[in-house]
Formats: sequence, structure tokens, C-alpha cells
Amino acid sequence: MIFGRVKSLDAILATAEKKGLHRSLGAFQLTMLGVGAVIGTGIFVLTSEAAQKAGPGMLLSFVVAGFVCAVAALCYSELASMVPVSGSAYTYTYAVTGEVLAWMVGWALILEYAVGASAVAVGWSNHFVGLLNGLGWHVPAAISNADALMANMYLAFGAAPSPDLTTALQTGGWINFPAIVIIAAVTWLLVIGTTESARANAVLVAIKIVALTAFIALTLPVLNAKNFDPFMPTGFGNPFSSSGLGVLGASASIFFAYVGFDAVSTAAEETKNPQRNVPIGLIASLTICTIFYLLVASGAIGAIGAQPVRSLSGVVLSPGTPEIAGRCAAIVATGAIEPLVCSKEALVHVLDTINWPMVGRFVGLAAVLALPSVVLMMMFGQTRVFFTMARDGLLPSRLASIHPKFRTPHVVTVVTGIAAAIAAAILPVGRLADYSNAGTLFAFLMVAVSVMVLRKTDPSRKRPFRTPLVWVVAPLAIIGCVGLYLSLPLTAKLVLPGWGAIGLVIYFAYSRSRSHVALGLE
Ligand code: ALA
Repeated sequence: MIFGRVKSLDAILATAEKKGLHRSLGAFQLTMLGVGAVIGTGIFVLTSEAAQKAGPGMLLSFVVAGFVCAVAALCYSELASMVPVSGSAYTYTYAVTGEVLAWMVGWALILEYAVGASAVAVGWSNHFVGLLNGLGWHVPAAISNADALMANMYLAFGAAPSPDLTTALQTGGWINFPAIVIIAAVTWLLVIGTTESARANAVLVAIKIVALTAFIALTLPVLNAKNFDPFMPTGFGNPFSSSGLGVLGASASIFFAYVGFDAVSTAAEETKNPQRNVPIGLIASLTICTIFYLLVASGAIGAIGAQPVRSLSGVVLSPGTPEIAGRCAAIVATGAIEPLVCSKEALVHVLDTINWPMVGRFVGLAAVLALPSVVLMMMFGQTRVFFTMARDGLLPSRLASIHPKFRTPHVVTVVTGIAAAIAAAILPVGRLADYSNAGTLFAFLMVAVSVMVLRKTDPSRKRPFRTPLVWVVAPLAIIGCVGLYLSLPLTAKLVLPGWGAIGLVIYFAYSRSRSHVALGLE
């Protein structure tokens, strides 16, 4: 029976005991890791994309996405406190729904963490290049984005030549070199050790919080109520429309701004008193981030407006397309102020527009300094999932080897770094974020299912943290995940089944016969 192979919870806990990592993280450090993982490219970069999809209605999008994350976090917390070992959703589903689905979740988590890390690295690269340009050091387009490469790929795959593609070929670049450099640096930090990485992370989180607080303090006083009207220029949207516009479409994209809090649970095996600290870390970091997002988004909308850009014929353009890039360039060429939705550095742009350019520069610098902490947490999560899968025999055991001096899973860290660097080098940020969201939503859904199944199959096991109203909260998480997944753009929706099919081939060709559970090694 294909779904029959489960790993018992007791075996999971025993394996962790036997082959464990060093326990060094406390509740405060975990919360800092959570905030470090969550506040990032989503608010600093994708705010523009959300505004283009939903206008001021993106405030609701932040609420919808935040709500889905909150109910998922409540489910995560129960499992994280019961099974405080590395691997998060992968480990939980292994115990509850069996090896095949666990493998699929682990496989989807690669999208969430590794591709998510790539997305944030590209967002960092945008800010870094912007900052250097502001200082008069021009970074050539050829090595700071991959737009020309993408345009060529479009043409190679049969796209009709167009003026926009020609422009991309002429002005775009071939490789995102700064994104590769930042991933390499983060990989090195992770190899030398978790404690050092967490310490560096805490400083960067502080910088990020100061920058967002400054943004809020300067924008809220100049808030103009007129900028909120019309509030939902593209409507609420529905999950079955292919346009991806409306409040729901923006929720599916801005969901990325919340991704990462679950990386806290992947650190459970390295946490002191995980029963208490993991749920605190998850819920506290999510709460802090949601408050900041709503205040920042209100400030941005209220200060300079957030209406979508339309084509000359009045159609709302899709974000991330050559059409909107051309339209934005045309608007700026008339001498008009660049709309929020056109900006690659949304928050910096708002501050420039309301005449706080020096603070704008500080916020840009803060993003450059702090986004690496997000890359770090995403990569940290990925290495721990890979590590756990290798330890279970589903991936080559060499990946699970621990460095004799640093006590970190160094091999898997370097492999993750190389994969994330390749994706970041050639793909744009919005696309990477959407792919990451697809994987994350699948993992969250499986966690919500697992919580309910485990309540039925193992009701008496000790649950240091119990999801409140689980029969309401878990189904809400499932509905939310499915709704957001369906609201993603079509390509992102297709990535998940495509990636899953590759994963299944590898599982049946390699992993299934080597599984430690199958071999009786657990
Ligand atoms: N939530 C993280 C970010 O917005 C991934 O960058």
C-alpha cells in the first residue's frame, strides 16, 4: 500500500536524539529568526506588485494573506511543539500521512525555501544596484539582471517578436551577479555555524525594524484620505479568474511577505526547551510582522497613492510584464512623478517623493544590510529539510554529514547555495516569489491536514501547544491555502504539479528503496 509507510513519532524523536544538532537557540533568538525570515523582499519590493493588482485594496490583501498564515501558524505550532525536530512540514507529514506525501512536502519545501531565498536575493540585488547607482557607481545591466536572457528564452520558445522584447534584448542583462554574491556570502555564514548566524541576524533585524518604523513615522502624518479612493479599482477578484488581479490575486503574491515564519519550526532541533519556545517564536514573529505590514502599506498608500497603471486603452496591466515597464517609462518621461506601482524600491521611492530623500537612502541601505538575513533564514530552513530527508535515507547520506568543527550540515548547505544561486542568477523576483508561494501553500495545507489526522489517530500524545478550535482553524487554513494557490498566476500554478512529478520520479527511482524506515534502520 503506497501510503502505508509512516515513520512513528517515537522513531522520529529517537533519530533526532541519536544524530542530533547542537541545541543553542532560545525564545528571543527564535522570534528574531522569525522576524528576520519574514520581513524582507515582500514589503520592500513586492508592495508595488500588490498595488498594481489591487490598488489601495492591497491592505485587504495583507489581511487575507496574514490570516491564512496565522491559521497555518497555529497548526504549525501544535506539530512543532509535539515533534520538536528538524524538517518542519516534511517531518510532520512523515509521521502522519506517510512517506510518499512527506517526500512530496519536502520536495515542495525546496520551492518554498531555496526558490524563496533566490527571490529575496534578487530583491536585495535590486536595492544594492539602486544604492550604488545613487552613489554614482553604475553597475552594468549585463551583470545585474537577466532580462535579455529571459527575452531570448521567450523567443527561443516561440514568442512573437515585439518592440518590448527587443527593448529587453537591447537594455537587459544576462546574469544577476550581485544575487549570486549574496547567496555565496550567506552560504559561508551558515557553514560556519548557527549561533554566529543567529547573532548576526539579530543585528540585521534591528536595522530593519528601525527603517520600517522611520517609514511609518514619516508617512502616516502626511496620509491623504483621498489616496484610498477608489479603494478596490480592480475588484475583489475570484480564485478562478486567470487575470490574477483584484484583492485575492494580490493576496496570493503578497503572501510571500509572510513566508518564512515556519522556518522557525525547522530550527526546533537546535532550540532549547522547544516545547515552549517554538510556538512563542512562530506566533510572536508573525504578529510583529503583520502589524508592521499594515502600517507600512497604509503609509505608502496614504502618502503617494497606489492606483494601478493602465494601458492607453484603459486596461490594468499585469505586473512584471514588458508592457507595464514600457508604460511606466512613458509616464516618467512626461515628467510626472513615478507611480508607486512602477517602483522597484517601493519604500525608498515613497520617501523620496514626500521629500525625505536622506531617510529614503537610509531605508535603501537598511534593505541592503537586512535582506541577507531573510536569505539566511530561507537557506537555513532548506538545509535543515534536506538534512532531515538525507538522515531518513531518502537523499544520499553524504548530504547529512556534519562538519567536525562547526557542527553544521555543511555539504547540504553548499549544495543548497549552488542551487539557489543558479535560480537567482537567471529569474526575475516576482516569478521566483510566486513559485515559492506555490510550494509553501502546499506544505501549509499538508500541515493543517496532519494536525487533524493526528488528533484522531494519536489523541493521547502530549501536546505542549494545542491549536485552539482545531476543527475550525485547520479547515480554514486548508481553504485559505487552496484559495490563494488558485489565485496565483497560471505559470506559478503549473510549477507545483510539474515539480511534483519530477519529485515522484526521483522518489520511486532512488529514495523508496533506500528509505531507513523501509530498511528497518529506525
Ligand atoms: N517573507 C520574506 C520576504 O518577504 C520571504 O522577503
